[in-house]
Amino acid sequence: MIRPPETFATSRLSARRPRVDDAAAVFAAYATDADVTRYLAWPPYKRVEPLVDFLRERISDWERPAAAHYAWMLCLRGTDTPIGSIGVMPDGRKVMCGYVLAKKFWGRGMMTEALRHVVEWAVAQPDVDRVWAYCDSENPASLRVMEKAGLVQEGVLRRWHASPTIGPGLRDCVVCSKVK
Ligand SMILES: CC(C)(COP(=O)(O)OP(=O)(O)OC[C@H]1O[C@@H](n2cnc3c(N)ncnc32)[C@H](O)[C@@H]1OP(=O)(O)O)[C@@H](O)C(=O)NCCC(=O)NCCS
Repeated sequence: MIRPPETFATSRLSARRPRVDDAAAVFAAYATDADVTRYLAWPPYKRVEPLVDFLRERISDWERPAAAHYAWMLCLRGTDTPIGSIGVMPDGRKVMCGYVLAKKFWGRGMMTEALRHVVEWAVAQPDVDRVWAYCDSENPASLRVMEKAGLVQEGVLRRWHASPTIGPGLRDCVVCSKVK
């Protein structure tokens, strides 16, 4: 069974469990931004209420001993306001990672820092054989983050995921992993 730590910190970031009162900050920082959601499975939020519902689900995950998803809110160290999120999705001995960061903070190596920490934690778990993530084949920044975090590109899943911000059709994805 995989039980992630409820908090962690890197040199510039702190990660903690989500709270309902994060909704306003997440809405303001990135959830409504189509540049942020472009390659994600969810479209930009138009109202804060559905985001509250989403956060409630992520909060309840942490109450379960073996949830399918554990998400952390990422804050600049020394602050408590979310600027992004990273999560793990355990599935047997496999752990998939996903992440999002407010546009204002792109290009400073922050998500690499967070993902590297999560990948190293996951790989160190005795019950985990595979840590992986995927990104849209047109999202080179995310591919670079995966590679810098220690994942190795292993192939393309053709017509694998939907990006509603772009349109209804399924899109190709690049898969990266670290295995042991
Ligand atoms: C993808 C994302 C997480 C990157 O976060 P970040 O903190 O800006 O990433 P980092 O600064 O750690 O690294 C970005 C790398 O991508 C590179 N990069 C950025 N844009 C690029 C582009 N258009 N083409 C090629 N490389 C690019 C940067 O140069 C950097 O690599 P380098 O350090 O070798 O120079 C962030 O842009 C984001 O949240 N996007 C929206 C959500 C998303 O796409 N999430 C991933 C879903 S799979």
